[in-house]
Amino acid sequence: MVTTVTEGIERVVISAEEIARRVGELGQAITADYRGGAARDSRRRPLLVVGILKGAMPFMADLVRALDLPIEYDFMAVSSYGNGTSPGEVRILKDLDCAIGGRDVLIVEDIVDTGHTLQHLLAGLSARGPASLRVCTLLDKPHRREVEVPVDYVGFVLPENLFVVGYGLDYAEVYRNLPFVGILKPAYVREE
Ligand code: IMP
Ligand code: MG
Repeated sequence: MVTTVTEGIERVVISAEEIARRVGELGQAITADYRGGAARDSRRRPLLVVGILKGAMPFMADLVRALDLPIEYDFMAVSSYGNGTSPGEVRILKDLDCAIGGRDVLIVEDIVDTGHTLQHLLAGLSARGPASLRVCTLLDKPHRREVEVPVDYVGFVLPENLFVVGYGLDYAEVYRNLPFVGILKPAYVREE
């Protein structure tokens, strides 16, 4: 029997309205920065916004529409092996369609947790010689960081030890389509 997606949710942590307001603010800040000197591409090609699949999809869709700049966008997909305790090896499942040498690139992530995923992405992309490389994440868990990574734009900082789902974030691939960010009822979290 089909149930609702909200059935497993204990409580809303960030509402759809709060997300929309913050995405608007981030869009304005990014727009101002790239109009005002953050852009480094000597050939003045549009900013390339890179969404990291699958989690960044809803955030990316809203954020690019809050940018009043000419942009292009593309996607990458990466997979982390291992659990949170072992520094995950990160594998590229889908790479960019275009070269980024000399271009301005903005990575859009759903969440930065230990930082391993982002560290690997940044190392791989900076080796391709972009003119500039910045990061925008919807959510940040700074207290969980295992490696230092530069994050230029943060939507919300999460309090300690909160595993959240919704607005792109999953638990076992489910709950990504929730319009808000919330936490699961204990009964809906499987014992490991
Ligand atoms: P990192 O490499 O530890 O920074 O891991 C980032 C990835 O871990 C994210 O892209 C998510 O897939 C996953 N992740 C970390 N925390 C959460 C959470 O609270 N909810 C859902 N996924 C999470
Ligand atoms: Mg995930």
